[in-house]
Amino acid sequence: MSKVLITGGAGNIGSFIADQCIELGHEVIIADNFYNGKYRNISGHLDSGKATLETIDIGSYEMVKYAFEKHRPEYVSHQASLMILDSDKFPHKAIDTNITGTFNIIQACYEFGVKKLTYGSSASVYGNPRFIPVTEDHPFDNQTLYGATKIAKEALMQSWAYTHKVPYVGFRYFNIYSERQGLGAFYTQVFQKWIHAIYNDQEIIMYGDGGQTLDLVHSSDAARANVLALFNDKVKNEHFNVGTGKETSLKEILSLIENLLGKKAAVKYVESDPHLVRRRCSSIEKIKTQIGFEPTVTVEEGTKKYIDYLIKGKI
Ligand SMILES: NC(=O)c1ccc[n+]([C@@H]2O[C@H](COP(=O)([O-])OP(=O)(O)OC[C@H]3O[C@@H](n4cnc5c(N)ncnc54)[C@H](O)[C@@H]3O)[C@@H](O)[C@H]2O)c1
Repeated sequence: MSKVLITGGAGNIGSFIADQCIELGHEVIIADNFYNGKYRNISGHLDSGKATLETIDIGSYEMVKYAFEKHRPEYVSHQASLMILDSDKFPHKAIDTNITGTFNIIQACYEFGVKKLTYGSSASVYGNPRFIPVTEDHPFDNQTLYGATKIAKEALMQSWAYTHKVPYVGFRYFNIYSERQGLGAFYTQVFQKWIHAIYNDQEIIMYGDGGQTLDLVHSSDAARANVLALFNDKVKNEHFNVGTGKETSLKEILSLIENLLGKKAAVKYVESDPHLVRRRCSSIEKIKTQIGFEPTVTVEEGTKKYIDYLIKGKI
């Protein structure tokens, strides 16, 4: 049994990493400031004593050091981040959390001799893809501040792995969704807002022609990629795409939701949003061969879980 500290552990991906580490018998420490995380994502583990919560802001090295000194984690999964829309709204906060915060975590991993660090980068680093499926050697062509912070994170990881021997594995997540997420990412707003609006017979907004595609990965699958890499000594200092290799258009998501709810949406078409790229489709060859990762949750299953969860909470 090892001690695993998860930053952003009350969030979408982080809370699934907590579930899976606990299932494997590890001791989990969740570090989150609840900016976008939800207590209900982790309350079961806190109540049962299987996880400990440290409410800290990773932008403060004092707080990060406090948590590391107290718990002495052997493994760290770093998922805390300001998401794309809030990064535009609060650019200094994005730098504090995504860049300074990430450096604070890497430095603490160095100071406290952490064995392995996994963390969340993003497909945003690629921008609008020049070829499909996108492989890890696709050039960076980021267009957002959020994407810029992810490129900075990758560079920080590489530098400290080289000079300070902090071993990491980074994941360029494609479109990660689940019923546990907040409203931080553009397309997750689409998911939640659409389900909510159609269920309540309200109009939905379609951005552009609806032909933009996403490579949708359920958060439990993205979490599994982290868990596989954390405890695999053979894989280190690499970045991997986390996707499915399948594209789903906004229009297809809409008709899936309509079918599952048994209702037809009233659609208002507006101009597309700059946060949506035209296509997302990941090559998953590298992660399949090196980590043994394959996605397991289909878009149909994931959307059904999402809807069931929202209906249970009486959306
Ligand atoms: N969801 C996606 O589609 C997607 C895509 C690409 C990359 N990512 C990356 O994956 C990681 C996890 O994303 P997610 O979907 O779970 O998002 P999320 O917002 O659900 O989780 C992030 C968590 O970090 C916490 N947090 C934010 N700022 C913090 C701070 N300063 N100190 C401590 N905690 C803080 C939030 O409260 C939240 O619980 C992030 O790095 C994100 O950028 C996600």
